Parts: sequence; structure tokens; C-alpha cells
Amino acid sequence: MERRILIITGSHRKTGNTALLSGWVADGARDYGAEVDIVDAAHLKYKSNGCTSCYGCQDSTEYRCIINDEASDIIASIPDYDVLVFASPVYFFSLSAQIKLIMDRMYSLFKFKENKVENNFGRTNIAVVASAAGDMGSGLKMTESIIKQLAGFIGRKHKSLLVPNTPMDPIKTATDIDIKEKAMSFGAELSQW
Ligand SMILES: Cc1cc2nc3c(=O)[nH]c(=O)nc-3n(C[C@H](O)[C@H](O)[C@H](O)COP(=O)(O)O)c2cc1C
Repeated sequence: MERRILIITGSHRKTGNTALLSGWVADGARDYGAEVDIVDAAHLKYKSNGCTSCYGCQDSTEYRCIINDEASDIIASIPDYDVLVFASPVYFFSLSAQIKLIMDRMYSLFKFKENKVENNFGRTNIAVVASAAGDMGSGLKMTESIIKQLAGFIGRKHKSLLVPNTPMDPIKTATDIDIKEKAMSFGAELSQW
């Protein structure tokens, strides 16, 4: 069956490394029949600059953030996908704030009850595509471990594409055949996951 993949990108640079990598991952997945949607978390319309910890989602019977903005619509749609990909630059050894903002509001996909936690993720596995100017130790491994922890928490699998030593200038990245091939094969892998 055709896989549905949602890529949430978290960089303000619309033509930066994250956008390039996400595009290649999407192309690789589409080549193998996947349906891919890409959402740019840095340019959504937000009514709040993050989870307000209102706990409105916990009082509701729905799995939906009660802040009524574009982020809520995207987050509520996550369980409709087979794979959720966070695509992020490494910012100070971790995911970017734009990704963290979406991730925190994913609290609404959980119901934290007295003795148990229920979630609405269904079949959705989690992947990360991250690039960094430095080596694996300058934040990529840390970023991967957060995604691994999240996937474990919801009882799903995780996969990562970690790209160290990425040129700061995306024009240089755009002509790097090796990175392009790795990203496209990662997309192909996600399409069969
Ligand atoms: C605010 C900021 C923080 C960064 N922190 C790190 C870091 O901790 N480790 C690292 O290797 N690169 C770091 N970088 C470099 C970016 O991760 C890297 O250039 C990335 O490929 C940029 O992706 P983009 O073009 O999509 O924005 C940082 C860049 C910025 C702007």
C-alpha cells in the first residue's frame, strides 16, 4: 500500500540545507510511490509561540491542540501518516526551536491519565533528517537521541539521516552528489517502511 509521509521542516532558510535535504528525501520517497507532504514549520501562522501548558487538550475528548491555528491542523493530521519526519538544522546541539515548538504541541496527541498514557499515533513511525556544520558529536547524535526517545515513548520505530559537515552555503550543498544520493535513498527507505 502507498505510504503517506509528512515532513515537517524547521529552518527559516527557505532554500537552505534543511529544505534541500527534505526535497531530496521527498523525491526519493515519491519515486517509490509514496505520497509526501512537506510543511514548513518556520512559516506557519501561529497564535502562540509554543505550547502554553493550558492542558486544554487533556480536558478535551479530541486529540487536538485547542489553540486554533495552522499548527493545530498539522499536528492533528499526524496520525493519518505512516511516517512523520522532523527535518531540522542542528541549533546548539539539538533540534531547532521551530521543530521544538511543533513537538511540544504534540502533547495534544496524548492523554496523560493517572496510571497510564494513551496516544493517538496509531501507525506513525518517526524519522529525523538533520544537518550540522560540525561533526556527529556537535549535536547530530543528541538530536537523534531525542527522536529515538520520542519514538520509544509512543511505542513506534525511528530512523535517522544525519548529515555532518554540511556547508553553511546551501549552493555548495546543492551540488554535493553524495549527500543528494544519501537523502534520496533515505526517502526510498521511508517509502517501504
Ligand atoms: C543558531 C544556529 C545554531 C547552530 N548550532 C550548531 C551546532 O550546535 N552544531 C553544529 O554542528 N552546527 C550548528 N549550526 C549550523 C547549522 O546546523 C547548519 O549550518 C545547518 O545545515 C543549517 O541548516 P539550514 O540551512 O536549513 O538552516 C548552527 C547554526 C545556527 C544558525
